[in-house]
Amino acid sequence: MNATILSNNEKHYPVLLKEILSIISPQNGGTFIDCTFGQGGYSKSILKFSKTKVLAIDRDIDCKKIAENLERKNKKRFIFYNKKFSNIDQINCENLKIKAIIFDLGYSYTQIKDPEKGLSFENTGLLNMRMGINEFTASDVINKLEQNDLELIFKFFGDEKKSKLIAKKIVSERSRGLIDTQKLVKIINSSKKNNNKKTHNATKVFQALRIFVNKEISELVYGLIKSVKILEKNGLIVVVSFHSLEDKIIKYFFKSLSEQSKNSRYYPESVEKKKILKLETKKPIVPSKGEIAINNPSRSAKLRYAIKINNEKDFEKNFLKKFENLLEIERLSRKLWKICF
Ligand SMILES: C[S@@+](CC[C@H](N)C(=O)[O-])C[C@H]1O[C@@H](n2cnc3c(N)ncnc32)[C@H](O)[C@@H]1O
Repeated sequence: MNATILSNNEKHYPVLLKEILSIISPQNGGTFIDCTFGQGGYSKSILKFSKTKVLAIDRDIDCKKIAENLERKNKKRFIFYNKKFSNIDQINCENLKIKAIIFDLGYSYTQIKDPEKGLSFENTGLLNMRMGINEFTASDVINKLEQNDLELIFKFFGDEKKSKLIAKKIVSERSRGLIDTQKLVKIINSSKKNNNKKTHNATKVFQALRIFVNKEISELVYGLIKSVKILEKNGLIVVVSFHSLEDKIIKYFFKSLSEQSKNSRYYPESVEKKKILKLETKKPIVPSKGEIAINNPSRSAKLRYAIKINNEKDFEKNFLKKFENLLEIERLSRKLWKICF
């Protein structure tokens, strides 16, 4: 999972910004929800157009300083909420016709580089990985969860082929003391040959841990469902993602809501469900060569968007069922609650 705002000269760089602005057309005004405020790249660009309003969300309280500055400069046009976007329904947007809801998933450059957040395998010290508003750390996961559970997390959230061996070695190693970031990297290195020089051995396990610690699957699933419910007809939902698991969920969500579906072939025609979304493009929009040249991590970004065309409320059952196995793995965290508290 790559930060969207890395660049070669370490300057803040919002991914696919030009493309997003051309989709949401802020020059015509309107109210927007920026679900992943980060360093404020998207929000600031939208607010440059005087007839716009932005409601911004981020789970990381460290964004507050940038947000407060923006609030001062754009009185009554900008509000920041330190929340998880799965709780988007808790922000007050009644009577506001939301023109677009935007997600730019993953982590900001500032977060990846913050040693206290411990998101990267290059860090030393305790495993953490909390983005904000979390219940437990990566250290709790690695040092307390059972071997089988660790294996499931690495396998399904990281697609790690050596998940069984790595989980086994973790459990054996932790009997000798707490496993920190560098110890975990050593365990992974000793379990894998590095045939792929471009990717670090620890990439997949670290991705899996970040997803689990931040419950990114439920965040995305419920963030998408609630956003579509908040939008009125003609509202847009725009999502930038950075790895295949996220994109798989987004692609399925958009596809299933933009197809006419019958509940069952045994049901009468009248039960046929209406399409809720309209997809403008089937293929994702990706960064140009020029953007990748100045911001290499943007190379894995994929932008998908859709327009709400129907106000049907009860649409999430199939979607939740489809990803129930992943949601169930995130629920393993309940075991940690019992162990830690
Ligand atoms: C890639 S950055 C966004 C960068 C932003 N578009 C910009 O231009 O500055 C992702 C941000 O989303 C936040 N985030 C990730 N998951 C979240 C969630 N479930 N709820 C709220 N914020 C979240 C992270 O804390 C991070 O600040």
